[in-house]
Amino acid sequence: MKTYGIIGYPIIHSLSPIMHNAAIKHLGLDAEYKLFDIDQEDPEDLANFCYETDLNNIGGFSVTMPYKLEIMKYMDHYDPIAKIVGSVNTVVNEDSKLIGYNTDAMGAAQALKEKTEIKKKRVLILGAGGGARAIAYSLKEFGANVYIFNRTKKKAEELADEFDIEFIPYRMIPKGEFDIIVNTTPVGSMPNTEESLLHAEHIKSDAVVMDIITNPIETQLLKEAKKAGATPISGERMLLHQAADQFKLFFDKEAPIKVMEKALYKGLDKRN
Ligand code: ATR
Repeated sequence: MKTYGIIGYPIIHSLSPIMHNAAIKHLGLDAEYKLFDIDQEDPEDLANFCYETDLNNIGGFSVTMPYKLEIMKYMDHYDPIAKIVGSVNTVVNEDSKLIGYNTDAMGAAQALKEKTEIKKKRVLILGAGGGARAIAYSLKEFGANVYIFNRTKKKAEELADEFDIEFIPYRMIPKGEFDIIVNTTPVGSMPNTEESLLHAEHIKSDAVVMDIITNPIETQLLKEAKKAGATPISGERMLLHQAADQFKLFFDKEAPIKVMEKALYKGLDKRN
């Protein structure tokens, strides 16, 4: 039996095992998907985990916070998207070589595509960290006009420069000019759930607003979007699509996404 799993810290609340194990069971695969708690205080823990993948019969693993950048130095190869985005959320052990992929980028685009076209749309991305990079890359690939809005100007400028997109100065809160808004910052996540970077008056009634936060599911930004009459997309849609893409990389099989979706919502019900 091959072992798969997710590394991160803290990892206990991850919804990835419930999705991947449901899909493994559904397809009758001889595999299991576990939580791997990597100690952030011990710099050798991540290195040892990577060096011992063969020993532990690990076929691949998902990577979450805070290891999406640090993991890159242990990869033998990268997928071009992971290289451009500059972070890895999926590692596949291919013949004892660790290959790094990034499924966040396309996962975000797929989540948006459930509700809207992306091509030629004016997109505002809140934040300029790793999540913003992945999403800016994929939405630009799909032909959107992407703008970055970030607290620290230097980071916004750097990202805008690198991806040849625009940034909006942080003091100029954008008002109703965007077709799609994506929050990639932690603003509005537990425990500060009443916070939001934008409010209803900043959002067009025909806009689509996506938050990548998954706790809570309905963030204040999404409540503001609803107030404006816009379409909200909560973070679990991206979580689902990036996991389905991971499953395909791990097992070289189409993911049973409906099975994964059902398991995800059951897990969320249990959590809430
Ligand atoms: P990730 O890599 O997961 O996207 P990150 O690198 O920590 O996470 O990036 C988080 C983003 O959220 C950053 O752009 C950060 O802004 P700064 O560049 O100014 O640090 C943004 N962010 C975090 N907390 C914020 C807050 N309270 N208000 C506004 N932006 C915030």
